Amino acid sequence: MSTPKRYTVTAALIYANGPIHIGHLAGCYLPSDIYVRYLRSNGEDVLFVSGTDEHGVPIMIRGFMEKKSPQEVVDKYYAVIDKSFKDFGIEFDIYSRTSKPVHHKFSSDFFKTLHDKGYFREKESEQNYDEEAKMFLVDRFIVGTCPRCGNPRAYGDQCESCGSDLSPDELIEPRSALSGSVPVKKTTKNWFLPLDEMQPKLEKFIASHPEWKANVAGQCKSWLASGLHPRAMTRDLNWGVKVPLPNAEGKVLYVWFDAPIGYITASKEWFEQPETRNQLTYGGKPKSASWEPYWKDKDTKLVHFIGKDNIVFHCLIFPAMLMAHEGYILPDNVPANEFLNLESRKISTSRNWAIWLHEYLEEMPGKQDELRYVLTAISPETSDGDFLWTDYEARVNNELTAVFSNFVHRTMVLTHKNFEGKVPEATNYTKEDILTLEEIAKYPEKIGSLIAQYKFREGQQELMNLARLGNKYLSDNEPWKNPDKERVKTILNISLQICANLSVLCEPFLPFTTQKLRGMLNLGQMNWNNAKNTNLLAAGHSLNEPVMLFAKVDPVLLKKQIEKLDHIRKQQEEAEKQAAASNQQSSVAANPLEPQKDVTTFDDFSKMDIRIGTILSAEKMPKSDKLLKLEVDTGIDKRVVLSGIAKHYKPEDIIGQQVTILVNLAPRKMMGIESNGMILMSENDKGELSFVAPTKTNQNNGSTVK
Ligand code: MF3
Ligand code: ZN
Repeated sequence: MSTPKRYTVTAALIYANGPIHIGHLAGCYLPSDIYVRYLRSNGEDVLFVSGTDEHGVPIMIRGFMEKKSPQEVVDKYYAVIDKSFKDFGIEFDIYSRTSKPVHHKFSSDFFKTLHDKGYFREKESEQNYDEEAKMFLVDRFIVGTCPRCGNPRAYGDQCESCGSDLSPDELIEPRSALSGSVPVKKTTKNWFLPLDEMQPKLEKFIASHPEWKANVAGQCKSWLASGLHPRAMTRDLNWGVKVPLPNAEGKVLYVWFDAPIGYITASKEWFEQPETRNQLTYGGKPKSASWEPYWKDKDTKLVHFIGKDNIVFHCLIFPAMLMAHEGYILPDNVPANEFLNLESRKISTSRNWAIWLHEYLEEMPGKQDELRYVLTAISPETSDGDFLWTDYEARVNNELTAVFSNFVHRTMVLTHKNFEGKVPEATNYTKEDILTLEEIAKYPEKIGSLIAQYKFREGQQELMNLARLGNKYLSDNEPWKNPDKERVKTILNISLQICANLSVLCEPFLPFTTQKLRGMLNLGQMNWNNAKNTNLLAAGHSLNEPVMLFAKVDPVLLKKQIEKLDHIRKQQEEAEKQAAASNQQSSVAANPLEPQKDVTTFDDFSKMDIRIGTILSAEKMPKSDKLLKLEVDTGIDKRVVLSGIAKHYKPEDIIGQQVTILVNLAPRKMMGIESNGMILMSENDKGELSFVAPTKTNQNNGSTVK
């Protein structure tokens, strides 16, 4: 896009079913806040919106768990989340909620518009129904075993273990998350968005953004490659935005339909609230008086910050909705991050494996910038990241304290000691001084262009490089030892200029530090380009008393944090052990393993000619629900084998599969076809079958098994 006139920046509307943890921060809130602070510092017109997603099954489930109404759940968590963001210095223009009447009205009208344009396909379909709980089991209300990875607690919409998107009918042994009962099928009507028909337009849209991050583009392309399907935009639930049509009793909008519209409602709300009236300027210029240009003007750059589990919704489904409605702009970028792990384990709300923001703020008071710094340093921009407390300590001690804070402190103390806290005049620059000044002037451009490309981690590294440069300049020049007072003036002047530039450039990353540093330097509001000036502090300007920006991590506090996680880990391991023990007991009772067979001889065993082969083709045997007809390359020949695995494998999934085959078994005719050999399978105590295949690729067809 050519130079945008304004920016609309959104950060995912998180479900109000729990507090915020460091994974959420690293995923989208910190990157979006850095981006917006940078834009504002540049004098850009920005609207930064977010809020809580208060509908959908996740909220209802939390209600069932806490024995509360959905409204009580969202009220409780909205308050916790909103406060922790404010305390952490995430500066949204508005932090709204989708349960507000304005949002119900706006999203309902949006649906109505699409409906009146004839966009939806009404379809009757069979949905899972819980006869005990007397409700339809959509999305997360239905659980079962993941067909891809075997996770026994996969949801009807997604498996959190392997990340696959699922539909309820794919789940193995589905059951109700509410009552545990086996669902029955019941017919119901829903309104579908024909994403299949919209695919060509969406493909064009994705293709027009070759600059998107590889992880984002990759996911979009794989969705498109497997072909989009019509997706229901309504649900049979009693919590959410009511479907604004006759005969839609007991139906609400799909949460992924109303939630992204929440970005627009929040924008509208911001412009319409009275407090906003005196904020209708940016960088000294007047802002538009309405929300509409922020969502409808083609010179607005719309950027969605999200975590990777939200990619399809923001890159395909929401854009499809906006296209269908007409009049709206589409996202210019969706810089989604990967996930953050904690101490090398997946962060998990249900296992309490997380660092909760509200707890951190209480237990480590005044340390917001430490956490902001560490999370940006390990930001999962291109691959998953890992938060380790020892790494936190190392970064705070060796980088923030030893480099950044130490440099500023030495400079300030020396100025107070030698020049009564007034900026000394630079009289004679050495060649090295001039080179240093030239180097400093490059940083706003360097850091700014990295932020503009969503490379926050590298941007912050450059910020630290500027602090390192300052620290080195001071150490190399040793003003504390130098008897030449004129030279000392110049050295401290240059060091102070670096401090001033740091105070501008650290603002997006370390907003609390910016305030402290500007306070010390007695500097007012500044913008990004001021940092190109290496003479921000005039000679004679009075400085305030030095304060420490950062200090080494308090070992007592650190130990507490580490112990807290150890305790959770132990509790979890104990719970898992118990669960495993009770599982084993029940499966032993239900399906005893076969006892060992009678002794056999090696001679008997060697009579069997067992080889490695590969399945070339597979089809179902007509009139049999057990048998598949396979053609197998045994290395010595290609032959037909009938195998009783139809209940365990689909023919299309096993072409190319390596197998172990008994090749000298006497031929046997079954259902009119001769089978030549037997595929060896392992069978577990639940009667489930699996191929037995070599673990190395060098075992070519015909390899013998002994
Ligand atoms: N509630 C979703 C989540 O927490 C995110 C919704 S983002 C929005 O994963 F686009 F719908 F707002
Ligand atoms: Zn899975």
